[in-house]
Amino acid sequence: MEVVIVSDAKAGGELIAEAMAELLRHKPDALLGVATGSTPLPIYQALAAKVDSGAVDASRARVAQLDEYVGLPAEHPESYRSVLRREVLEPLGLDVDAFIGPDGTAEDVRAACEAYDKALAEAGGVDLQLLGIGTDGHIGFNEPCSSLASRTRIKTLTEQTRVDNARFFEGDIEQVPHHVITQGIGTILEARHLVLLATGEGKADAVAATVEGPIAAVCPASALQLHPHATVVVDEAAASKL
Ligand code: GLP
Repeated sequence: MEVVIVSDAKAGGELIAEAMAELLRHKPDALLGVATGSTPLPIYQALAAKVDSGAVDASRARVAQLDEYVGLPAEHPESYRSVLRREVLEPLGLDVDAFIGPDGTAEDVRAACEAYDKALAEAGGVDLQLLGIGTDGHIGFNEPCSSLASRTRIKTLTEQTRVDNARFFEGDIEQVPHHVITQGIGTILEARHLVLLATGEGKADAVAATVEGPIAAVCPASALQLHPHATVVVDEAAASKL
């Protein structure tokens, strides 16, 4: 695992956006795995700026979703499909055909999870998977004690994650869904390059457990230690407990 300490979130975003641009220069139709949350926003902004300036052509890029709430209509502004359309697809000038994701509205959620794992494989696998990290060490929505070999499946959110994510639902935890579909840890580990960005002091404990702790299901992100090409980019605050 490679750990890169940057001065702040903007520098982290720029560094990772350049890695994505470099990938697209070599593989224009690369499948980019994208994450939601506040942390990756500087990456998406920096990549969109590169596209706008002509530094990279992302017109053939493909985008894959990491996780999704169960039961939110796809057009709900906080469904991850809507969030990623707003934050990634539109700024990069991509349309929905470039996008694959799990169906959080499916009646048969289990079948939807299997279908998504299959769709990822048929798309040739994820070339570069962006990850954030939860304060409890979760990646995607793989909460602590998720199997490190898990596949895409339905999960129940912990109270902590619902509290953390209530800010996207007018601060009202009652509006935060209880269930989600997430790529499993085993699924995530199949991406060719994993890039985790963590910023701010609130992530310092989770980052220390990820980088220096044992590989253990209590800290799902510690599974990155198993991956042959994993990069963890942290600002100084998130690195403060290393
Ligand atoms: C959610 C997402 C994760 C993300 C996490 C942290 O739980 N499912 O993919 O990493 O939030 O979000 P933030 O970056 O806003 O702290």
